[in-house]
This record gives sequence, C-alpha cells and structure tokens, in this order.
Amino acid sequence: MPSSNQHTIQKTNGRYYTPSSMVRLILDTAGYQGNAILQKHIIDNSCGDGAFLCEIVHRYCEIALRNGYNIEQLQHDLTHYIHGIEIEPIEYQKCIENLNKIAQSFGVFQAAWDIKNTDALTCQNYSGKMDFVVGNPPYVRVHNLLDYSSVKQFHFAQQGMTDLYIVFYEIGINMLNKTGVLCYINPSSLFNSLAAKLLRKNLIQNQLLKKVIDLKHTQVFNATTYTAIVLLSQEKNNCIEYENYETQKIETLKYSDFYIDGNFYFSTAKNLKQIKHILLTSQRLAELRFRQPERNKINVKNGFATLCDKFFIGDFDFNEYTIPVVKSSTGKMQKCFYPYDKNGKYIPFNELINVPQIKQHYFAHSDKLKARSLENKNIWHIFGRSQGILDTWKNKYAINALIRNLDDIKLTPCPAGVGSYGGLYILTELPFNEIKDILLQQEFVDYVQALGKYKQGGYYTFSSKDLLKYLDYKIMGEQNGQADLFECA
Ligand SMILES: C[S@@+](CC[C@H](N)C(=O)[O-])C[C@H]1O[C@@H](n2cnc3c(N)ncnc32)[C@H](O)[C@@H]1O
Repeated sequence: MPSSNQHTIQKTNGRYYTPSSMVRLILDTAGYQGNAILQKHIIDNSCGDGAFLCEIVHRYCEIALRNGYNIEQLQHDLTHYIHGIEIEPIEYQKCIENLNKIAQSFGVFQAAWDIKNTDALTCQNYSGKMDFVVGNPPYVRVHNLLDYSSVKQFHFAQQGMTDLYIVFYEIGINMLNKTGVLCYINPSSLFNSLAAKLLRKNLIQNQLLKKVIDLKHTQVFNATTYTAIVLLSQEKNNCIEYENYETQKIETLKYSDFYIDGNFYFSTAKNLKQIKHILLTSQRLAELRFRQPERNKINVKNGFATLCDKFFIGDFDFNEYTIPVVKSSTGKMQKCFYPYDKNGKYIPFNELINVPQIKQHYFAHSDKLKARSLENKNIWHIFGRSQGILDTWKNKYAINALIRNLDDIKLTPCPAGVGSYGGLYILTELPFNEIKDILLQQEFVDYVQALGKYKQGGYYTFSSKDLLKYLDYKIMGEQNGQADLFECA
C-alpha cells in the first residue's frame, strides 16, 4: 500500500511506471530500433525514473558501438539526441542515476544528460525538433490537479473533465518534426470520453493516427485503468493498423470505419459497418423520439438503487410493504421491502413502524441507512435514489449491464408489481420473445464490445442509452426500413 503522501503524489502527478516489456513494445512500435535510431532525436516528456530512457540509452549504445562509434562519439550522441523532462526532483535524480549506470556499462562515464527537471507544460525547448516522442504520460483527472489554469490553456483540454494525458498529446505533437512519430501508452478513454473529443478530432483531421494496440482487459498498471498503445505519424495516414493485444489479431481499418460520431469504435471492419449503421440510425431516431414522443415503443432505464440492498432486499419475516424484485445480474426473484405506494410516493416513517418487525428492522440498520449518500438528504428511511420507482407497476424486462459473451446476457420478465435492481430494465409493451430475439444475438455482443467499456474479469458494460440506441435501431430503424424512418423525420 502506498503511504498517503505517496498516494497524493501519485494522484497529482499520475505516476504509474511502465513495465519493461511494454517499454520495448512501445519503442518497437514507434520504429525506434536498429540503425534507424542513429542521430535521431527522441524524448520522453514525462520520464519518471527513466523506464523508457534506460531502454533508449541501452539500444543507442548497442547500435552505435556495433556501427564502430568510439566512446567519445557515443558520449556526444547520448547527450545530443536523447532528451527527457520530469517534474518531480526525486524522480529526476533517480533517472539520472539509472541512465549513468547503463551508460557506464558501455564505457561512457561522463554523459551530460539532457534531462530537464521542469514542467513539460511550460517547456518550449523541443518544439518541432523531435524524430520520436515516446512515453507513458501522467493520467490525472482535472479535479485532482493542483494547477488547473495552465492545463486549460491547451486546445485539447477545452472539453469535458480533462485528463493530463490529453494535454501531453498536444505537447508531444508540438515536439514532432515534419517526419516525426509519437507513441504513447495511455487510458483507452481516449477512444470515447468527452474530454478526449477534440484530441480524436485532431488526430483524424490531421491524419496523424497510424496504429492502435488495444490492450483491452490487460491491465498493465496496478490500477483499474484500461490502456492502449497509440502510434501517430506526420506522414498523413488515412487508415490504421488496429491490433487486438489479447487475440494478437490485426485489422486494417479506414478512418471512416472506426471514427463514428466523434468516437473511436474498434472491431473487425465487417462488424464496424453494422455498428456504424446502428449508431447513425439511432442518432436520427433519437431526434424523432424527441419530436414525436408518442411514437416511442420502448425505453431503457436503471433499476432500483437502494444504496443499502442488505436492508431493503432479503428474506424478511414480514410481508407488509414488500414486493417481488428481480436481480438483473442473475434473474433471481427476491423479496423487497418497498416503502412506497402505487403512485411511487413514499410511505411516512411513522406509518411503516406500526408493523413491529419493520420497526425492529429499521432499528437494527438505521446507522447504515443514514450514512448513505442520499438523493434527498432529509429522508433516510427510503431508497437512496428514486430511479425505477415510477415504473414498478408497469410491464418491463430486467437486463444485466455487464457481459462477456452471449451466455452472460440475462433477460428476465418483470411484470407490473415486480421491481428490478442491479442493472437496467426495458420498458415496453412489446412481447418478451420479441425483445429476447433481438438481444440474444452475437450482433448485440459485438456492439457492446465495440463500445469499449471495459470492466474487470473480461467484462464489458453498457449504459441505458447504449441499449436504447440498439433497441431503437432494431425495432424502429431496421424493421420499418430506412425510407420510412426518414420520411417521418
Ligand atoms: C505515468 S508516469 C510515467 C513515468 C515513466 N515515463 C514510466 O513510464 O515509467 C508519469 C510521470 O510524469 C511526471 N509528470 C507529471 N506531471 C508532469 C509535468 N507537468 N511535467 C513533467 N513531468 C510530469 C510524473 O512525476 C511521473 O513521473
């Protein structure tokens, strides 16, 4: 466990160190290998204790000596072509020591390293000069940043809750010369977060994106961060190589295949055609939905959020104020203490505790109930959130929002009077089998996987909006035919 001080440094400076296998993969992907590296400028602009720079120095020394350099020439090149920036003085110091050790093992004892102990956000020394920019930029969400104003000056940081790694793209791209390449490992939120929208737009408009190695569920760092290796080049690309790190499969994708409505979606080229169709059609349908709400046949919402299932769901010794409830992830029916009337209005506490077992139940759990982060702070005896309550007495189908494959999909009928929790529910009068036939298909799994919302254990999640888009497309878009849809619009 890091100490709280270490933890603060980690949070504010985004310090996660890169394992050497990843460093090698990133340098190879950038093309930093063989004779091509000689007399080429390279920088890690957030170098930490030198995970990348050590491997870079090692490669440089080996190749230079193999090409007949003498120690003096090698010493000159190490100083002249290899660069780094690190904000933390201790990390900077460790980096210098680590680099010295490697250089010394090749007989170089007096390298005057060009490593700067400074803030990369304000350092202008390298603009337009680098052949290679590599690294693992800091991942720090904006609310953890100590100095937010300097971040907000960057163009890529203008939208959403930005993250420092997004700013490091702007810094890195500015450092590239006319033929330069950049290769970073960073969170895969780059594919779909609002904060990275301007970055994605820039990568596509300037035809910079060349390759993506999607690490998918493989967690390189000791954190719940999912990452990808991204290669940019100044050579004007219009397609990319997309590598699935888990299956090692490589697809060539045109920009227009995977850049859909401002986000990146990855799958096979064939799947992406269908996914693009789903996303663009459902976008038109959403407009229609807004203008003609009476045509809506379906909605998707989040199930109950009691914020204390232990109190509200279980095998109670009373039946008053209870309803059956479906756990979306298992489809199992349980008993739910439901302190609401048929209109969704909560029952006053004093009325509920007229039942002695209910009074006893509240008494045993009142501390936990009051400690919840409540939607309505003054009313502690009901569910933590009101979601789902107004639909209890409507027909619906519960569905889990966490799947790996087809077998994981759990769709369960929830007739009027039955609640659902721990997932989503589909609100519709359409027959259960119709919805089941739509969702229990590999096509739906492909769609969910392409959304790229990774969860631990190989799972993917999807939101109520994601599911609604899919169902809208299937029910209104695909079945009615595009012509009809757009005539109505
Ligand atoms: C994710 S770590 C990566 C370290 C190293 N490159 C590696 O891969 O092991 C990010 C590093 O960026 C440094 N850092 C954070 N903000 C910085 C800034 N504004 N300028 C320069 N370095 C910064 C942190 O101190 C940390 O060492």
